[in-house]
Amino acid sequence: MTKIYAIVNQKGGVGKTTSVINLGAFLADGGRRTLIVDMDPQANATSSLGLDKHGLSPSVYDLLLEAAKVGEVLYEHEIPNLTMLPSNPALSGAEVELVNAIGREYRLQNGLTELNGRFDYVLIDCPPSLGLLTINALSAARDGVIIPVQCEYLALEGLAQLVHTIELVRKYLNPQLAIRGLMMTMYDSRTNLSREVVEEVRKHFPGKVFRTIVPRNIRLSEAPSYGQPISIYAPNSPGALAYRVLTAELVKGDRQS
Ligand SMILES: Nc1ncnc2c1ncn2[C@@H]1O[C@H](COP(=O)(O)OP(=O)(O)O)[C@@H](O)[C@H]1O
Ligand SMILES: [Mg+2]
Repeated sequence: MTKIYAIVNQKGGVGKTTSVINLGAFLADGGRRTLIVDMDPQANATSSLGLDKHGLSPSVYDLLLEAAKVGEVLYEHEIPNLTMLPSNPALSGAEVELVNAIGREYRLQNGLTELNGRFDYVLIDCPPSLGLLTINALSAARDGVIIPVQCEYLALEGLAQLVHTIELVRKYLNPQLAIRGLMMTMYDSRTNLSREVVEEVRKHFPGKVFRTIVPRNIRLSEAPSYGQPISIYAPNSPGALAYRVLTAELVKGDRQS
């Protein structure tokens, strides 16, 4: 059975895209057929994996508008087992174009049904908002939501609203929707603040925070400009180690569930 997760946090810069591309790369590395879906009009996941965000067409935009079938919008990455369903800046118009469309919250879910078990994992990268694109991702996320949380002051701010949105989507659109886990990112071991933030988030979401914590690591921020995930760019860096272990933690939890 395909596992489908949305990586969501309406705050920008918390590590959503970094987590999607690097979890995706390590899942693929471990032999799992993995699809990364880029639902952000900024197309950072697309460009971080070396695909041209300006020229890729058709893209997820065409899938949402039912102008293309899912098979037409998949791009095989040179990394074995890794496939990309790219974004394109045109996606920024989709929220408006779909505003009166029937089934507008289900366009992504519908588009993905034709994959028919072709992948072991589908990871959906979301834009920094709770608009229709994120709602589409939440409706499609059969196996839950992964929430990256930056180890920074005010980390919890906004999470109540996110949890409320998840509850609404569960009630009206996707009864199975659950929080799969929160991932702590950009941890700075030199500060007490990082440690305190992790403790606080664990207190608010008991049993829901992944044990593996992603440190702040310059290699993780450099890799996208080379179009490479950390598994290729700096496989022995602390950032690579963290995402490798985090991937294993996710897979282990999935096997036990
Ligand atoms: N663990 C990390 N260490 C250092 N830089 C990071 C780390 N995670 C993300 N970054 C950098 O922080 C910025 C925001 O991360 P990104 O994944 O794009 O966040 P989001 O998708 O939530 O907006 C990017 O420049 C990214 O390279
Ligand atoms: Mg992003």
